[in-house]
Amino acid sequence: MERLQKVIAHAGIASRRKAEQLITEGRVKVNGEVVRELGVKVQRQDVIEVDNVPIYQEEPVYFMFYKPRGVISAVSDDKGRKVVVDYLQDVTERIYPVGRLDYDTSGLLLLTNDGDFSQKLTHPKHEVDKVYVAKVKGVAEKRQLAPLARGVRIEGKKTAPARFEILSTDTKTETSIVQLTIHEGRNHQVKNMLMAVGYPVQKLKREKYGELTLGNLRPGEYRELSKKEVTSLLNAARA
Ligand code: URA
Repeated sequence: MERLQKVIAHAGIASRRKAEQLITEGRVKVNGEVVRELGVKVQRQDVIEVDNVPIYQEEPVYFMFYKPRGVISAVSDDKGRKVVVDYLQDVTERIYPVGRLDYDTSGLLLLTNDGDFSQKLTHPKHEVDKVYVAKVKGVAEKRQLAPLARGVRIEGKKTAPARFEILSTDTKTETSIVQLTIHEGRNHQVKNMLMAVGYPVQKLKREKYGELTLGNLRPGEYRELSKKEVTSLLNAARA
C-alpha cells in the first residue's frame, strides 16, 4: 500500500507537491471514484486516473548518465536537437532528467521516473553537494576567488557559500582549472559565480553529485543506480 500522491509522483507525471494539488483539485480518480483527500492509500491493482487518463504504475528507476557537451537536458526539443533521453533508448520507463546541465556542459546527470525523488534532490532547501570542474579564462588566484566562499550576488540574490580549489593554472594560455562545490542549482550558476569573480568559464563538467562520481562511464554512457546509491542520495538530500 502506497499513498496516492506518492504513486502519482512515481508514475513520473508530477512532483509529490503537484500530485497533492491534482488530488485536492478533484482531478484524480481511484477505481472510478474522485478522491480529494490526501493520504489515501492505494495498491498496485487499483486503477488510478488523472484527468480521466489512467496512469501506469511504473516501478521507479534511477540512472546516472555521462552527458556529453551539445545535448539538451530534456526529454524532447522543439528544434530537433539531441536530448539526453536519446541516449537511454533501451530504458522503457518514462524517465526525465533531475535538474539540468547546460547544453555546453558535460558530466554527471541523474535521470528517473520518480517525481518525488527528483523533487527532493532539486528542492533549494535540501540541495545536495555537486562538484564542478571548470576551465576558466585567466590565471586563477585564491584571493580573487575568495568571495565565492562567502557567496556572491547574482541577479540580486546572494549565492550560498561554495568551496573552491585551484587545480592548475597555465600562464602561457592564461587559463586555469578550478573545482567548485555548490549545493544550489540556479540557472548557469557555476558560470555566473566564476564570472562574478572575474573568470569566464570556457568549459564546464559536473564530476560529482552527492557521493556519486562518473567512475568508468564515458560520455554518452549510462548505468542504473544501486539501491544503496539511491538511499545515499536521499540521505544527502535530507541532511
Ligand atoms: N552551472 C552552470 O553554469 N551550468 C551548468 O550546466 C551547471 C551548473
